[in-house]
Amino acid sequence: MIKQPRGTQDILPDRWAAWEHVYQAAETVAEGAGYGRIETPMFERTALFVHATGEHTDVNREMYTFQDRGGEELSLRPEGTASVVRAYFEHGMKVLAQPVKLYYLGSMFRYERPQAGRFREHHQFGCEAIGSEDALVDASLVTLQRDFYRRCSIPAVRIQVNSIGDGACRPAFIRELVAYLQAHRDKLCGQCRERIESNPLRVLDCKVPCCQPVLDAAPQMIDRLCDECRGHWHRFLAGVEAAGLTVSINRRLVRGLDYYTRTVWEFLPDAPGGAQSVLGGGGRYDALAEAIGAPATPGVGFSTGLERVLLNLVAGASQGRADHALDVFVVTHGMEAELQGLELLVKLWQAGVKADMAFDNRSLATQLRRAEAGHAGLALVIGERELETQMVGLRRLETRKQDDVPAAGVVDAVISIVRPKERDQ
Ligand code: HAM
Repeated sequence: MIKQPRGTQDILPDRWAAWEHVYQAAETVAEGAGYGRIETPMFERTALFVHATGEHTDVNREMYTFQDRGGEELSLRPEGTASVVRAYFEHGMKVLAQPVKLYYLGSMFRYERPQAGRFREHHQFGCEAIGSEDALVDASLVTLQRDFYRRCSIPAVRIQVNSIGDGACRPAFIRELVAYLQAHRDKLCGQCRERIESNPLRVLDCKVPCCQPVLDAAPQMIDRLCDECRGHWHRFLAGVEAAGLTVSINRRLVRGLDYYTRTVWEFLPDAPGGAQSVLGGGGRYDALAEAIGAPATPGVGFSTGLERVLLNLVAGASQGRADHALDVFVVTHGMEAELQGLELLVKLWQAGVKADMAFDNRSLATQLRRAEAGHAGLALVIGERELETQMVGLRRLETRKQDDVPAAGVVDAVISIVRPKERDQ
């Protein structure tokens, strides 16, 4: 049999309550802060991602890129920010009150080596605020991200922050960093050596033990910020304090995408023994708009992988959602009764009653077992006798008490039991 592609997952109904819990937390937190939902296409022109995320980044190398039948170069989206910024310009959002605040929930695709918490198709919740330079927007987004994890019942998180400067101060720093790394080349791992030229900032992110002494002593951007970036950084820290957040400065935090400028941050789980991979991250991307050929426009945002959030939920955080239970199960005896049962089932659905039946002319015992498994409180029984008398047996499954109800009034009778208030109105 053909199996699913590596690194993808089927989300089955028994996991859906947990996913729904996380989706609802995202919607509540984002909408509560004035973010409006945006959906962008799952694929875009490849150039959008290459220009936005950078040619030498992992994200770019891991893209699912293809030519469509018309010869167009397209890629499945590896992340959401580039598309949201593109949409901001394509839909003339520059004339709206700034910043424009948008959030998204959806799949992203990266050809990575699958492992716990790392997939080739993963899901992200992201928020982007486009059109403001104010560092307090950055601080508000860090707060929003923290609130999302809280609402999901993730017990504890650590927040790391840094500033990686901008086009004014970073080029000189990168030259200094490259010179330093070259001088210590022989003490670095193979991947770091390869990255010295192509992506030197990313070298600072390396976790390989042999590289740590060299990288700890490396020049750091935070000490070389220009006046504007330093001012921005201090205002961000003041905002973070005003928001009551506890953050730690990680001078080596650079993040993996080229579009970042100034503020960057990451959230890590803080549970002993828990999964240690980054929960989510974000930052400012004031140079992204120009990189994709649009007028210079500042922006800042974050996104978080939902699979990683689910891995870190406290046990039971998403349980107790009983409202997936059925109201009614239709139980029939005989082919003719089954047909009447379907007619009744459709009427129940149309009246907004959660209802199901077994089909396949199952035995009575099987049908009652299914009713129980669906947590239905009521069964509607149609057999030969009910067909003859135009009645339906209304059975309360807990007490096993059964009354006959005229077939014509059975939907109303069900509603008066499952939603008594609605009927009185
Ligand atoms: P990113 O750090 O590349 O940033 O990804 C954000 C989050 O997505 C990660 O922290 C992680 O939780 C999750 N993630 C990434 N790759 C995978 C994977 N293969 N499997 C499972 N989860 C994964 C961005 O994508 C930026 N767009 C964030 C941003 C928004 N910056 C500003 N605005």
